[in-house]
Amino acid sequence: MCGIFGYVGGRTDAGKLVIDGLKNLEYRGYDSWGVACKIGTEIRMEKDIGKISTVDSSAFADACSLAIAHTRWATHGGVTKRNAHPHMSCDGTIAVVHNGIIENYAELRRELEAKGHAFQSETDTEIIPHLIEEELKSTDDFASAVRNACNRFEGRYGLLALHTLSQTLVAARTGSPLIVGGTRKDGYFIASDIPAFMDYTRTVQYLDDGEMVVTDGRSILFTDIATGEERPKREIEITWTIEEAQKGAYKHFMLKEIMEQKESITRAVNQDEEQIMTLAEAIRNAQGTFLVGCGTAGKACMAAEYFFSVIAGKHVNFAPASEFKLYHHFLTSRSLLIVVSQSGETADVLEAMKIAKSKGSKVLAIVNAKGSTIDREADYSLHINAGPERAVASTKALTGQMAVFILIAYALADKLQEGKTLLLETGAKINDMLNPRYMERIEKLAERIQRKQDLYIIGKSWNYPMAMESAIKIQEVSYIHAEGFAGGELKHGPIALIEEGTPCIALVGKDEVTTDILSNTIELKARGAFVIGVAPERYDVFDEWLKVPEGGAAQPLVNIIPIQILAYFLAVKRGKDPDMPRNLAKSVTVK
Ligand code: M6R
Repeated sequence: MCGIFGYVGGRTDAGKLVIDGLKNLEYRGYDSWGVACKIGTEIRMEKDIGKISTVDSSAFADACSLAIAHTRWATHGGVTKRNAHPHMSCDGTIAVVHNGIIENYAELRRELEAKGHAFQSETDTEIIPHLIEEELKSTDDFASAVRNACNRFEGRYGLLALHTLSQTLVAARTGSPLIVGGTRKDGYFIASDIPAFMDYTRTVQYLDDGEMVVTDGRSILFTDIATGEERPKREIEITWTIEEAQKGAYKHFMLKEIMEQKESITRAVNQDEEQIMTLAEAIRNAQGTFLVGCGTAGKACMAAEYFFSVIAGKHVNFAPASEFKLYHHFLTSRSLLIVVSQSGETADVLEAMKIAKSKGSKVLAIVNAKGSTIDREADYSLHINAGPERAVASTKALTGQMAVFILIAYALADKLQEGKTLLLETGAKINDMLNPRYMERIEKLAERIQRKQDLYIIGKSWNYPMAMESAIKIQEVSYIHAEGFAGGELKHGPIALIEEGTPCIALVGKDEVTTDILSNTIELKARGAFVIGVAPERYDVFDEWLKVPEGGAAQPLVNIIPIQILAYFLAVKRGKDPDMPRNLAKSVTVK
């Protein structure tokens, strides 16, 4: 979602540094940007709507060793220069950038206005510098004033604050991620995500919920926001490389990440077998296993319902994380919640974890981002090891998540090795499939259907969640209206939408539902649909056939790949940037 980056230390190019660092967080999605640099005892502030990539950072080359910057994804107040961060106190001495939502901001704003504070924006964030300014009337210490202000907030925040009379950077978090990079030697970097400072340091310390940090660039102190007690931290070295997080020879991250599925599935399968067996046992013994995730991760959970049922005869329950609230009636200390998230920072998932923990249930996280909040707060974690995923559209994370679920389902059926073999073979087949001829074929198909306004996808069994996932992929990057259905549901309503030439995709495998899904496809064809079949075999009903290898229980992993490629080419052909779809963000840290 919004990006945050701040620096304090011995360097004298802090303004330029924070702007360049934020350019590395562009993939998160935002609509405006801003920076505040402490120069002497003044603050130079610049902000605007639009892309930070077009900002010339050399224009911020003034001698400056303390700066904060932000990219904003609008929640409270429209996309305007005024609403962009940083926000300042009335006297212009305090600047703040913030991610998250201060839920009691209206009440605090009324209170501050009554005391004479004048507000410039419609944001919830602007109450922060004003409240700190108010708190400074009863303490000389800037960090204490920030602490006192934080203790009055309800909601979620990750914030950075600076003051003209202090060479310190103060950060606090409750609900929105902040990571500290650097050492006494390099100075300290504080960002909402690691790529912001990877050019300068690989040493990180994680700020946890309810904690704040104060640093002057040479020393650093982590404390509990509520009590002020010191919180000791461990320095951790990041193991992934900057190249892994960059586009390399690819035009877009989305394409790069689709192609990385040649290896990422194999990496996901490479789990500690003992741990997989222990987790399978935990599922076997749980009195109720619940799966939650959002968007694409939610579709991996939906597919997992079928994996558990077909492979292991085990019933589990899926709910989108945002719908989990009322499930608390079913939770006990013997329930198990499995949460799935690429970023490990999704607010709705964190909320679901909170609900489960309040009932004493255990939480297993399947995550990509190691060290993320979800990873750290879960009782057990499995990493899918897909490497950084930067395109907003999730691709390689999905196939990694499904691979891990298949592995657990096979472990539950006491056939772990069989599952492993199947997945490794599937990885190899995907490697063969992702060749230039295949890509060209799908590009041509995208060329042919790019001007269509609607597109429908059908699937059955574990291909049903993939039909829904296909729709998400096509919607979010190409903006074509796409919907995914269970094939059998067509005749209960959606078939009324089919006209002569409507493109419809059928996701087909070679299993006990093949005949059924082909019958549904024939129903579409009879209404004039232009039928694109994704299947291991060609059937007469297909107008276009996108061949996929036969995958058994791993069929959804192979079937989704041509659709990811199609969505990518549809976006490109329609002149859209697949890496930065409108209105969306990579990491959704608001509820
Ligand atoms: O980081 P997460 O996996 O928790 O994110 C969940 C969704 O926001 C995410 O999958 C979203 O639906 C993607 N943009 C879809 O491509």
